[in-house]
Amino acid sequence: MANPFEKKNMRILVTGATGMLGRELCPMLEAEGWQYWATNSKIFDVTNTKLTNEIMNKVSLEFIIHLAAYTNIDLAETNPEQAYLVNQMGTKNIAQIAKKLNVPILYVSTDMVFDGAKNEPYKTNDATNPISVYGKSKFLGEEEIRKTTKKHYIIRTSWLYGKGERDYVNTMLTFSNLRDEISVVDDQIGCPTWTRDLAQKIVSIIKEERAFGTYHICSSGHTNWSGFTKEILKNRNTKVISIDKSDFPRPAKRPTYSVLDNNNELPDWKNSLSEYLLTR
Ligand SMILES: NC(=O)c1ccc[n+]([C@@H]2O[C@H](COP(=O)([O-])OP(=O)(O)OC[C@H]3O[C@@H](n4cnc5c(N)ncnc54)[C@H](OP(=O)(O)O)[C@@H]3O)[C@@H](O)[C@H]2O)c1
Repeated sequence: MANPFEKKNMRILVTGATGMLGRELCPMLEAEGWQYWATNSKIFDVTNTKLTNEIMNKVSLEFIIHLAAYTNIDLAETNPEQAYLVNQMGTKNIAQIAKKLNVPILYVSTDMVFDGAKNEPYKTNDATNPISVYGKSKFLGEEEIRKTTKKHYIIRTSWLYGKGERDYVNTMLTFSNLRDEISVVDDQIGCPTWTRDLAQKIVSIIKEERAFGTYHICSSGHTNWSGFTKEILKNRNTKVISIDKSDFPRPAKRPTYSVLDNNNELPDWKNSLSEYLLTR
């Protein structure tokens, strides 16, 4: 039987297409010759159940990539209703479209579903225990998908950077133009991941028709935020000062250790970072 994803006209719904990951991914879908419907909160608010029902009954799709999320981790602590509405209920709506149309759904989740108490990379079947509203809301989104449809990919990733306004790398480079010293926490360990690497992997998962399930996809290796910043600024004169999380209190708790066992899905974070720096 022909591979449906070789069809040049595959129709894909992309939610959160205007976000950091979506902006990297959509041109890649286009390059494959796939048709995609790029949406954001203005075009299709995923919490709008009426619109969800209309889409379910009127639109013809072959795949759903669900990136839309409430991603302000700190604000979620004081605005939990909105975080749960978008990340849990919005995801439930999208999962129901997938179920009704009998198409696969790919959902991007986070390392923040773990509590960080481990000291070796988290495996996909390790117990989750989110310690922030954002982490919990994303985990509940995962659960909505798991209970609605078997045809799912749940992809947990971490510390995304890439072109866009919210790019950590760009923020640090800008700071370094203005400051001689930058203080960054060194007691939070994880894995920075370039949106381009992740987007390319998403395309290959679709093309290879990988088995459905939960995957950890982030760069290989690990670092802390201070180490990441030092690498970003290695050719600059700005000094990076390591501080403790307790010196920089923030509303949402972050896992102390959230390295994901990525099964070598992506290159080492330092290689990807240097490539990204060359593309800027
Ligand atoms: N960034 C990270 O470090 C990271 C790490 C792990 C996992 N993730 C996950 O990866 C995915 C993509 O992240 P990102 O960094 O690209 O996010 P982002 O830059 O914050 O973009 C979020 C996207 O979601 C859309 N959105 C928000 N609320 C919506 C709603 N109610 N209805 C429809 N669309 C809505 C936004 O649209 P508007 O422009 O209209 O607001 C935007 O397109 C998210 O699911 C996130 O949880 C991110």
